Amino acid sequence: MEKLITKAILPAGGLGTRFLPATKASPKEMLPIVDKPMIQYAIEEARSCGIEEFIIITGKYKRAIEDHFDSAFELEESLKKTGKKKLLEDIRRLNNLSFAYIRQKAAIGLGHAIHCAKPYVKNEPFAVLLSDDIIEPGNSLLKSMINLYKEYDSPILALQKVPLSEISKYGVIDGVREKENVYRINSLVEKPSQSSAPSDMAIIGRYILTPDIFDILDGIGPGKGGEIHLTDALFGLLTKRQIYGYVFTGNRYDAGDKLGYLKATVDLALKNPLISGQFKEYIIEVARGLKN
Ligand code: G1P
Repeated sequence: MEKLITKAILPAGGLGTRFLPATKASPKEMLPIVDKPMIQYAIEEARSCGIEEFIIITGKYKRAIEDHFDSAFELEESLKKTGKKKLLEDIRRLNNLSFAYIRQKAAIGLGHAIHCAKPYVKNEPFAVLLSDDIIEPGNSLLKSMINLYKEYDSPILALQKVPLSEISKYGVIDGVREKENVYRINSLVEKPSQSSAPSDMAIIGRYILTPDIFDILDGIGPGKGGEIHLTDALFGLLTKRQIYGYVFTGNRYDAGDKLGYLKATVDLALKNPLISGQFKEYIIEVARGLKN
């Protein structure tokens, strides 16, 4: 019988080179989108699916992430004294979750980051969320993937159709449509060139994985660009078991990239009840100025 998904791994050990110089000494994952660091969106998404244990893979200059998810006694006391109830609620909202941090000694790929969590995950299936892939809050992607995992008792990858001109930024699958929004995966390749891509179905940053991926990661060497890729490990796992893809159709932002980050900021600000009205007026004013 399939086991429940209670843990999520969030790799956050990368160098954030697409966001330099902002990320020279601060974690990319802590860049705010409206009023929350981007990693908090992924944590809240997982929590809305019943996940309460988080393993964050960190690295050099990433300590701010640990501080952010720690309780903040002095700040809480000060907000209590000054009667700032709403702010107090906001900063306490995640206090009941459990966080463990593992330091990845070198930023040598997503596969390597996931492998670092092996001693803590043991024999359970788990979710992986890449926090710079922001899924519009409220979207049921992860929930649907967990349900699919229960149905097939197999690893599930989130997929999205992307323009071929962007395909070389992603892991890409070759698969057969199983039913609406579901693909049975036959093969996958990390960041293929446009001409060699097996399809336009890209893997995006949500995975439900089974612990047998660790056995494959134990024996895998560097692939494209000298990094240890999760995609290569999944390719190895395909010889042992079936893997499925769930096609996502909502709004996703690549917030690790400057343009994607700005799009996420604008769209989420327009949905934030505290500022949406005034922000919308401002955007309209800017757009008018651009037309003239
Ligand atoms: C990673 C994975 C890639 C996946 C992508 C999704 O790449 O290696 O297979 O398609 O995340 O965002 P990265 O964006 O870290 O280069």
